[in-house]
Amino acid sequence: MSDIKKIKDEFLHKLSEDLNIENVNQIKSELFGKSGKISNFFKNLGSLPPEERKKFASDLNFVKDELQEKINKKIQEIEIREINSKLENEKVDVTLPERDIVRGKIHPVSQVIDEISSIFSEIGFSVEEGPDVENEHYNFTALNTPDNHPARDMHDTFYLDDKKELLLRTHTSPVQVRTMLKDKPPFKIIAPGRTYRSDSDQTHAPMFHQVEGLHIDKNINMGHLKGCLNYFIKSFFEVDKIKMRFRPSHFPFTEPSAEVDIGYELKDGKIVIGEGDKWLEILGCGMVHPNVLKNVKINSDKYQGYAFGIGIDRLAMLKYGINDLRAFFETDYRWLNHFGFDPLDVPSNYRGLSR
Ligand code: DAH
Repeated sequence: MSDIKKIKDEFLHKLSEDLNIENVNQIKSELFGKSGKISNFFKNLGSLPPEERKKFASDLNFVKDELQEKINKKIQEIEIREINSKLENEKVDVTLPERDIVRGKIHPVSQVIDEISSIFSEIGFSVEEGPDVENEHYNFTALNTPDNHPARDMHDTFYLDDKKELLLRTHTSPVQVRTMLKDKPPFKIIAPGRTYRSDSDQTHAPMFHQVEGLHIDKNINMGHLKGCLNYFIKSFFEVDKIKMRFRPSHFPFTEPSAEVDIGYELKDGKIVIGEGDKWLEILGCGMVHPNVLKNVKINSDKYQGYAFGIGIDRLAMLKYGINDLRAFFETDYRWLNHFGFDPLDVPSNYRGLSR
């Protein structure tokens, strides 16, 4: 018994000192760990003569409970002390002046994508998306641009493998193919997103944004295309009248193809859309080529339609008076603060986005 008492006194003394949690855990393991002092007594019980064993075991249990209780109490004490000291140090000083709230701004490109989507959704277009990493087939071949077609050179393509099977999409047109393969006609979709070409100067960046449009149904003609674009341009630039001209052009995936210019004039160095006798090219379009429809197993005798591709960054620059495209992608916080949009400020032509 005297051995147990010695240990009990020694450890009760230790536990009465100023300890932290690590110290207490250390003591715990010295007593009750695998070869802890109390554990060893229990292990050796069997070697005692039977007449001593019962009393010794009862004394040992008593000491064990006492030490265990003391340890638990100590842990509780330390925890309470820590909470109190935290409360003491983390007091809130309600008399301090409040900090300025810095609200993030919406990037002009995101803003314009939302505006475009809301305008087209008003006349029944839904929004589709496609991947930035595209395969050669959807980006070119299915769009009637075979391997050796000269139009492939127009796109300075970022290929991702030696076989030139994977690439960063050079336009949003592959979303036409993906959409038509996924469902049955009619289709009336737009597809905004990032596009990539190896190009960089004041008006070209290696990554830029386009929005694709596709409308396939029975009896769709170029008049529908014209009406749709006329409505869009007027809504986007918030003007009642627009001068628009279709110039014959060539795209492998449309026949006939056109590029669309809008009239503008310069007033005090600022571009005013819809007036004047200067022309600005803003998009490419045309009637979807029968070969494209054939490639997605649509009967071109029954269904036809139009498609268009608009440069989003260009529209954003025009509408919001931004003259260097590269600034869009430089992530300069001061620039964004100046040209960005307040998320709580709803633009006048925003009519809610239905996706
Ligand atoms: N994909 C073309 C480009 O990037 C733009 C374009 C032209 C898209 C005519 C169309 C279209 O859908 O019909 O230059």
